[in-house]
Amino acid sequence: MERYGVKIITFGCQMNENDSIQLRKILTNKKIFFYEDNIEKADVVILNTCSVREKPEHKVFSEVGRIGRKGKIIGVIGCVAQEYGEKLLDKSKYINFVAGTHNIDKVPDILLKVINEKKRISKNEFYKEINSINIFTEPYDSAKVKAFITIMQGCENFCTYCIVPFVRGGEYSRSSNDIIEEAKYLANKGVKEITLLGQNVNSYGKKNKGEISFPELLYRLSRIDNIKRIRFTTSHPKDFSDELINAIYEIDKVCKQIHLPIQSGSNKILKLMNRKYTKEYYLNIIEKIKEKIPEIKFTTDIIVGFPFEEDEDFNETVEILKTVKYLSSFSFKYSPRPFSKYSNIDNVNEETKKKRLEILQKIQKQITLHYNN
Ligand code: 5AD
Ligand code: SF4
Repeated sequence: MERYGVKIITFGCQMNENDSIQLRKILTNKKIFFYEDNIEKADVVILNTCSVREKPEHKVFSEVGRIGRKGKIIGVIGCVAQEYGEKLLDKSKYINFVAGTHNIDKVPDILLKVINEKKRISKNEFYKEINSINIFTEPYDSAKVKAFITIMQGCENFCTYCIVPFVRGGEYSRSSNDIIEEAKYLANKGVKEITLLGQNVNSYGKKNKGEISFPELLYRLSRIDNIKRIRFTTSHPKDFSDELINAIYEIDKVCKQIHLPIQSGSNKILKLMNRKYTKEYYLNIIEKIKEKIPEIKFTTDIIVGFPFEEDEDFNETVEILKTVKYLSSFSFKYSPRPFSKYSNIDNVNEETKKKRLEILQKIQKQITLHYNN
């Protein structure tokens, strides 16, 4: 039997990272495929893509050109695949198949068709249930002590800069029973640390009738003996409840480090971003958490140069950085994305964005240095 070596290249967030891990597992479950880490030796290269900003999106196209010339089978999956769909096949003759965010579990079958029938295929529909690929996780490398568990997917917050609700679809939570079963299974395989993944984990289960809350999920997972550490990401400030703060406080296994994206320190900009909280509300949460759990550390995401951001708005963001003293912060220049409400607005010039980014990153560097000392 002819066998095919597959290499997967992952761009973007931990959701994508986990999707790639799952895909690798279901591909290599079929005898015809094996994983080939060396791209030169691989017969098939799959790019798992990110569309959250323009830069990673561009990278995909340059990679396709570079790899395509070597005569390999190329698949584009994930967020850029969802964004462009079938049009990707027109954009590059090198691309053999496209699979959107809800069709990653179909990739083994798609790839077989590409190989056997010499077809070019695009599969992009959204399904109204959690992506079946994430239903069961097995660490492919049994030596691994850390694992991701996807607890929900999609987002319905529609921040005005964000493409995610359009490329990952509506918010769907997995059943807590499945999640707990998966955690137990992983624990038996030697996993000690789990990271719960979702676009907005604090609203876990809210749409599922009779489902437990996110804090309750943390309690139940913490009762699995062999799981020693629990992390989660990402949290939306608007859904950060007292119940959750209490759970983080009470459960020793929950890591005392929280990623809580603020995006901007200006109420004007937060409103334009449709973030549904004010600076005061955000700082109040931070204060409440710090009071209860003094050793807690925070990390955050910030966008600079969002439309209509003036110096005084930006200065408020700088103030937040100095007040909260994040362990680290990830700051990005605003990049207009298709489908989002502000897709056509980008009125802060590049020079200003660059300058603001540099200022933030310099301040953050000093704060981080302080922690390291
Ligand atoms: N431009 C710049 N940054 C963005 N992010 C999301 N969308 C955009 C955009 N259009 C950032 C946010 C988010 C992180 C994952 O990426 O800060 O929290
Ligand atoms: Fe995007 Fe906002 Fe949803 Fe996060 S909460 S994925 S920033 S729309």
